[in-house]
Amino acid sequence: MARAMLCARREVTAMSNAALGDAGAQTLRPIRTGALETWRLVRASYNDPLGHAQELHARHGNAVMQKFAGMTFVHLYGADAHRLSLINDGQVFSNKKAWDMIIGRIFPNGLMLRDGDDHRYHRRLMHAGFKNAALKRYHEEMVPQVERAVGAWPIQPGQPLRMFPVFKQMTLDLAASIFLGLELGPEARRVNKAFETTVAASMPKIPLAVPGTLLWRGIRARRYMCEFFQALLPEKRAGDGTDMFSLLARATDEDGNRYTDQEVIDHMIFLMMAAHDTTTSTLTSMSYALALLPQWQDRLLQEVRELGVAQLGYDDLERLPLTEQVMKEALRMYPPLSTLPRYNLQDVEFEGRVIPAGAMVTTYPIHTHYMPEYWTDPERFDPDRFSEERAEHRRHSHCWVPFGGGAHMCIGLHFAIMQIKLVMFEMLRNYRWSVPEGYTMPVQQSPISKPRDGLPLFFEPRRVE
Ligand code: HEM
Repeated sequence: MARAMLCARREVTAMSNAALGDAGAQTLRPIRTGALETWRLVRASYNDPLGHAQELHARHGNAVMQKFAGMTFVHLYGADAHRLSLINDGQVFSNKKAWDMIIGRIFPNGLMLRDGDDHRYHRRLMHAGFKNAALKRYHEEMVPQVERAVGAWPIQPGQPLRMFPVFKQMTLDLAASIFLGLELGPEARRVNKAFETTVAASMPKIPLAVPGTLLWRGIRARRYMCEFFQALLPEKRAGDGTDMFSLLARATDEDGNRYTDQEVIDHMIFLMMAAHDTTTSTLTSMSYALALLPQWQDRLLQEVRELGVAQLGYDDLERLPLTEQVMKEALRMYPPLSTLPRYNLQDVEFEGRVIPAGAMVTTYPIHTHYMPEYWTDPERFDPDRFSEERAEHRRHSHCWVPFGGGAHMCIGLHFAIMQIKLVMFEMLRNYRWSVPEGYTMPVQQSPISKPRDGLPLFFEPRRVE
C-alpha cells in the first residue's frame, strides 16, 4: 500500500515537472520566523541536521524555504527529493555552485565540484584509478598493511582506546601508500599533517583568511600539498607506478589527452579528502554498533570463520554478506554526509510547488534514513533489514543514499567497501570489543558524522587461526 502511494506520488512529480509553467503549481514561499528563531534554525541545520529536518518536516511538509543573510535556502525531504536532485533531469541543479560555496576555497575543481559535460569528461578519465584491475592492486597492498596496523593497536586491559583517531591514522597511512605511492616516514607524515590541516580548514567557522585563522593555515597547507604533488608529477607521469596518483597522471582519453598538471593535483587533493573522513566515520559507527550488539559481533565472527582463510582475498570480499549488512545499517543510521547540497540554476518543481532559481537546495540522507515510510522501526540498529528477504532499502530507489546517486554518485564506493571489509575482518580475528557500561555515542553529524568523544572501546585480544 505504502509502495503504491509512493509510486503514485512519483508519477505526479514527474508529470508536474514536465508541465512546469502550466497553471496549478504554486511558488514555494519562505516560512515566516522572527530573527531569533531564524538564527536558531540556521544553527540547528548545521549542529543537528536530523533534529532540524525532523522539526521542519513535521511542521511544514516535504519542501521548506528559508531566507537568511540575503540567500534562499530550500530544504527538501524524503526519497523523492533525493531522486529529483540526484538524477537531475535537465541539469537544473549545480553541484559546483553549491559545493564551491562550502569547500571551494580549499578543494577547488575536485570532481564533486564540477557540472555537466565538464564533470562527465573528468569522471571518465578518473575511472583509470577505480577499475577492477586497479582495485585488485590496491587490495594486494592494503592487506598486509591493515594486518600490521590492526595487530599493533595499543590495547591495554581495562583501558579504553579512542577509536576515531585510531581509524583516522590508519586511513591516512593507507592513503599515503595507496593513493600517493609513498613509504611511511617523515615525508608521508608531513603530507598527512598538511592534509589534515586542509580538511580542518575546509568548513571554517570564521571564513576569513588572515594570518593565524584556520582558513589561512588551510590555504598555506594546500599550497604546500600542491608544491609537493607538482614536484612528484614528472616521475609519476613517466613511471609505471600503480598508486592512484600515477594512474591519474597517466590516464588518457580516446584522443590521447591527459589531465593537466593542476588538474591531477586538484583531483588528488580532493580524492584524499573524499576518501578519508568518510571511511573513518563508517568504521567508527560500525565498531560502535558491534560493541553494543555482541550477538552481531558473534555472527560476523562466524562468517569470518566459515570463510576459512587467514587473509581476505579479493574474491572473498563478496563472501561477507552479513558484514555488508552491518556496514549498510551503520551507513543508514550514521551517514557520513548527512546532507547533500545543490544550487538550482532554473525554476524547478517539487510536489506541486515551484522552487525559484537561485536557491541553495539541500536534501537530507540522514532524515530519509529515519523515515518510517521506508524503514521498519527506524531508530533500531537492525542489519537484517538489508537481508534479501526484507530488503527495506528497495522500498524506494532513493531511500538509502549514503553514497549519493546519479552522475555524482560516489566513485570510491567499491574502494571504501573493500577497505572497510579488510579492517573489519582483521578486527574480528584479533579482538572482541565492547563499550563502557551505559555508554551512548555522542554524534556530531556535520560536516562529517563522527563521535564527539572519539568513541572509547575496550578490547580483549583473541586469535582466529
Ligand atoms: C564510506 C565511505 C564513503 C562515503 C559514505 C562517501 C559518500 C559520498 C557521497 C554522498 C558522494 C556524493 C556527493 C554529492 O552528490 O554531492 C560522494 C562523492 C564522491 N566520493 Fe565518496 N564516499 C565514501 C568514500 C569515498 C572514497 C574511498 C573515495 C575515493 C577513493 C571517494 C571519492 C569520491 C569522489 C571523487 C566523489 C565525487 C564524485 C562525483 O562528483 O562524480 N569517496 N561520496
